[in-house]
Amino acid sequence: MNRAIRLLVLLVGLWGVAAAAQPSGTATSDDQPSPNALQASRTDQAARQKIQPLNNAPTWRAANSGASGFTNLPDHEGGVLIQSAGEEWRQLRNGPVTINGGWFLVAVLLLIAAYYLWRGPIGVTGPPTGRMIERFTVIERAVHWINAACFVVLALSGVVLLFGKHLLLPVIGYTLFSLLATISKTGHNFVGPLFAVTLIAMFLLYVKDNFPRAYDFTWLIKGGGLLSRKAHVPSDRFNGGEKLMFWGALVLLGTIVAVTGFILDFPNYEQTRGQMQQAWMIHAVAAVLFIAVIMGHVYLGTIGMRGALDAMKTGYVDEAWAKEHHARWYEDIKAGKIPAQRSAQAGARAAGSATQAQG
Ligand code: HEM
Repeated sequence: MNRAIRLLVLLVGLWGVAAAAQPSGTATSDDQPSPNALQASRTDQAARQKIQPLNNAPTWRAANSGASGFTNLPDHEGGVLIQSAGEEWRQLRNGPVTINGGWFLVAVLLLIAAYYLWRGPIGVTGPPTGRMIERFTVIERAVHWINAACFVVLALSGVVLLFGKHLLLPVIGYTLFSLLATISKTGHNFVGPLFAVTLIAMFLLYVKDNFPRAYDFTWLIKGGGLLSRKAHVPSDRFNGGEKLMFWGALVLLGTIVAVTGFILDFPNYEQTRGQMQQAWMIHAVAAVLFIAVIMGHVYLGTIGMRGALDAMKTGYVDEAWAKEHHARWYEDIKAGKIPAQRSAQAGARAAGSATQAQG
């Protein structure tokens, strides 16, 4: 329990720091033009108004060039009235990122559906022993589900913000879509920092059992037996695929979406429009990849493998399940290297059978 409280304090503390990071942005003096230059452009414009009244074409050409001009806008980018690179970003966003990202996610979904139709749910060959082993403690499950819930909110709101205009707007109309988009954006901006905090907690809780071992590469090369109905490749508490998801998705993609997310969520650190567009691009591409990986994880963690969801719901797996899917982990428990029961206050039923499993 103490550990749970300490972690909770850490979570709230980190979120508090994130919320307090709200300084006000003020324009600095060195953005401003020299008095001579200001005077020169004013004279030039006045002369033009005499020859061609109301024709400000050169001014707007200059404004649209992306080059920094003279304005008294109180902003560090005040000199750039029109940031022309913004149009390139908009084209990329509404073009390749949305279209390719969308079809990529559809392709991953179809691949998972085809795999399910071919392989079906992966079960355990032997009968259950009735002896239970603790696979996840209360705190590991609680942090996992808070993390998973944040991810689902971010993924769904992100999908609405990226694809909604093309997929939902034509169906539900402007009023409903703008309501949905507003709720998604607000939810995304508030849940984002919390997700970043839960990612750190997940890393701290799960890293110790995710260090890669040589035999994990054998697991990966053989596809972990997922591509054959016979072969079962022995693995640790977490197999090569889970370890790859841990470092590739949770750590790498998680860090990328969190860092770029903070840049986008707190735009008061003098970020330029160009920097915001770059952060958006990296954020969107990493998020689409993250969603694709977690779709596979959710499939295997729900209908794709019998007993997996129970492990993350109750914390316990049957000895037969452990032996079949995580043989090295099971052998270590049998050998007494790893306790079959890690959290002190176990469910009476589970605790009883867990100690039996210890042999
Ligand atoms: C609704 C969404 C999710 C479901 C249904 C789900 C389901 C599961 C299940 C059943 C397990 C246990 C697998 C086992 O016993 O080996 C598990 C483990 C795990 N999940 Fe999830 N999960 C979800 C979302 C996430 C998200 C968003 C992340 C990370 C960003 C994540 C990271 C992990 C990690 C790290 C483990 C432990 C395995 C390892 O460390 O390699 N999960 N999940």
